[in-house]
Amino acid sequence: MTNEVIQNIITRRSIKQYKDQQITDEELQTVLHAGLYAPSGMGMQSPVMVVVQDKDTMAQIVRMNAAVMNATSNPYYDAPTVILVLAPTDRTTYIEDASCVLDTMMLAAHSIGLASRWIHRERQMFETEEGKKLMKKWGVPENFAGVGALALGYADCELPEPKERREGRIIYADK
Ligand SMILES: Cc1cc2nc3c(=O)[nH]c(=O)nc-3n(C[C@H](O)[C@H](O)[C@H](O)COP(=O)(O)O)c2cc1C
Repeated sequence: MTNEVIQNIITRRSIKQYKDQQITDEELQTVLHAGLYAPSGMGMQSPVMVVVQDKDTMAQIVRMNAAVMNATSNPYYDAPTVILVLAPTDRTTYIEDASCVLDTMMLAAHSIGLASRWIHRERQMFETEEGKKLMKKWGVPENFAGVGALALGYADCELPEPKERREGRIIYADK
């Protein structure tokens, strides 16, 4: 069986090349709105999404993320929008909750023709003093941790073909 949703899941790809052009507010709101509907442990809806589009904050998070891996390149691949996802560590499912938000947003983005890529290292970024100051500025409570981020924009490349799926990943308990 297949349908539009299944095809959207199968054809989504993580993108490293983005156009300079900013996405529209309608596109951004569509992706964020979808993120709000991601499932969460006990339905607590605890993750928050922080949208970064301005030049100064973008430069700051690029520097902070690159510092975690001692790199000089832009870990967000010059995408014009980055959505940081943070969640409260006192919820036992905070990583899973935030991961659902990120995946839901990636699929929503792809379904409306946007490109995205999940980017890592936000936990370390927001453990630093600088990260904590940013959280305070954004009104994110101290018990929140960074879980991941989405680089978001228009692809400046063809969507790559998916790698072949590894064998042996589906196991039937009764065989
Ligand atoms: C938890 C997680 C962390 C990731 N972190 C990064 C990252 O830091 N930088 C990056 O370029 N891609 C990152 N990716 C994207 C993966 O590299 C990408 O999903 C993988 O290569 C498969 O490609 P596809 O998404 O097109 O199927 C991450 C993906 C996941 C799920």
